[in-house]
Amino acid sequence: MSYHNIIVNIQAGLAELTINRPSKLNALNKETIAELGVAFKDLDQKQEVKCIIVTGSGEKAFVAGADISEFANFSVEQGQELSQDGHDSLFNLVENLSTPVIAAVNGFALGGGLELAMSCHIRVFSEKARVGLPETSLGVIPGYGGTQRLAQLIGRGRALELVMTAAMIKADRAEAIGLANYVVAPEELMNKAREIAAAIMKNSSKAIASAIVAVNANYTDGVDGFHSEVVEFGKCFGTDHFKEGTTAFLEKRKAIFS
Ligand code: COA
Repeated sequence: MSYHNIIVNIQAGLAELTINRPSKLNALNKETIAELGVAFKDLDQKQEVKCIIVTGSGEKAFVAGADISEFANFSVEQGQELSQDGHDSLFNLVENLSTPVIAAVNGFALGGGLELAMSCHIRVFSEKARVGLPETSLGVIPGYGGTQRLAQLIGRGRALELVMTAAMIKADRAEAIGLANYVVAPEELMNKAREIAAAIMKNSSKAIASAIVAVNANYTDGVDGFHSEVVEFGKCFGTDHFKEGTTAFLEKRKAIFS
């Protein structure tokens, strides 16, 4: 499929997905959300893709939020639909993808932009990144999972402060409160994300998919995370990767996960 608002590059098992609407600071309009949903699903189904990095094009922004021009006149029903569609087609999809996703946050990540970064499994920030959930300054609240995922990542008190003040914070503060895994110089951003991807890609993709299910289970209503761990742990024993990983250890060689 050809995309209008995103660019996808795959090299040696690593997919790099760039959100490409720089004139609008990569704001997420309906078309971009739909394209991202299709692209993530497609990459997840490709056997050769072992890790995905998502970033924004241009110098200024990762994503400056949902496209405000599209929903300014929405009704209550349309607002609910917008939020639910986003959860279903992109944000929950990314969080629960079997393939690990790293956000390389190169600039502004506001509203839906920070919500997308928070749906990813790992976040690397450029020193230039400025992030926040400014929705209450627009008379609305975060609608793409931000009220939930921010509290999960940094705790309820800090999340409520950021949501209620609509403040934009710098990268070093984001790292201090656990929102960024790493902060690096702008020119090192993609290298750092690729370095993490390379470390992940050495390991069993099947075990990693199970780990994502088990960790996420703790944050899913009505699901017992410990039970999920037991099930996923057991499942690993039935995989060729487990056979290869344990055999390689016992034979004192490096495992090769096909
Ligand atoms: N939705 C739609 N368009 C957006 C946008 C968004 N969330 N964020 C930026 N843009 C557009 C601007 O309208 C402008 O378009 P134009 O040149 O056609 O007028 C272009 O992107 C550049 O943005 P601009 O505001 O001129 O850049 P800036 O450097 O002065 O300010 C920001 C940067 C990020 C501080 C500012 O764009 C902003 O506050 N954006 C909205 C952030 C937000 O509230 N996001 C949450 C949405 S729920």
